[in-house]
Amino acid sequence: MRVLGIESSCDETGVALYDTSLGLLSHAIHSQVDMHQAYGGVVPELASRDHIRRLVPLLRHVLVTANANLESLDAIAYTAGPGLAGALLVGASFAAALAFARGIPALPVHHLEGHLLSPLLARDPPQFPFVALLVSGGHTQLMRVAAVGDYTLLGESLDDAAGEAFDKTAKLLGLGYPGGPALAQLATSGRLGCSQLPRPMLHSGDLDFSFSGLKTAVLTLVRNTELSESMRADLAAEFQEAVSDVLVGKSLAALRQCGLHRLVVAGGVGANRRLRERLDQEATKLGVRVFYPDLEFCTDNGAMIAYCGARRLMAGAMASDQGIFAVRPRWPLQELLAP
Ligand code: KG4
Ligand code: ZN
Repeated sequence: MRVLGIESSCDETGVALYDTSLGLLSHAIHSQVDMHQAYGGVVPELASRDHIRRLVPLLRHVLVTANANLESLDAIAYTAGPGLAGALLVGASFAAALAFARGIPALPVHHLEGHLLSPLLARDPPQFPFVALLVSGGHTQLMRVAAVGDYTLLGESLDDAAGEAFDKTAKLLGLGYPGGPALAQLATSGRLGCSQLPRPMLHSGDLDFSFSGLKTAVLTLVRNTELSESMRADLAAEFQEAVSDVLVGKSLAALRQCGLHRLVVAGGVGANRRLRERLDQEATKLGVRVFYPDLEFCTDNGAMIAYCGARRLMAGAMASDQGIFAVRPRWPLQELLAP
């Protein structure tokens, strides 16, 4: 079975072709970072309009590089939520129209489930069950994943997600959008231990997170001190370390609670080098294996949507009625039904 995946939930347009026998045949991403940079963040209307411009050329590119054509598609999976309403509608209507024209099913996919299953695209994928640390721009969650569609929420952020905290703190440090990679870059020249930052909820006894206090602590330091370039770098390094400490501590606690030894890290913040380093250090000590998606599949992409759609279709998921589509800008992962 060949499934086309369409991702358009935020500021990346992604298209990919996944074959259930041959694996990922081709994928292409267009990032809108350059366009939104001037505004310091994503402008939803501009995002929607750009998705419209990009989808057809990306689809053409994917089909050509996979040496495939529209006739060879068996289904189309698209991100139906969560995300920006207008941006989601572009991908959903594109997928529904193409599926209708070809007489094949269109399958709505949950964006976070796409992230959650993205490490399964790797050459050496994890076996079920595993604990997943989902760290994206809008979500920080720990899940027990028993199978496709069988997810138990263990803990989540009570306020800002880790990615959001990176983005907001980057702004406080005078860095541009997207903040996470920029802050991580600045942190490479910073020294640890030069400033004191809290590790929020690290010892709370549960698996929930809170990152807004950490951002406020940085705000207080920035307001009260004239920061030199090297002090900004030190602060960036300490912030990254504080977030990593909390994510590592809670992930290990989740593994202990579930009695599991496999951890999967997914979502944009999972691209953070220091977080990976710290997780690998601690995991080795405890005999835990950590699985990451390839770097290009950490942030938003069409491959994870095509893959997720294919897994769901193989498990018997129902596609939407021909030509009918809906998006869910807010869609808790726990509401996702098993296929
Ligand atoms: O998963 P993602 O691409 O989009 C969402 O679904 O939200 O995650 C985007 C988030 C942003 O907050 C971005 O700043 C963060 O991931 N991010 C990073 C890094 N790369 C992306 N945060 C820290 N370090 C990075 N290297
Ligand atoms: Zn995402």
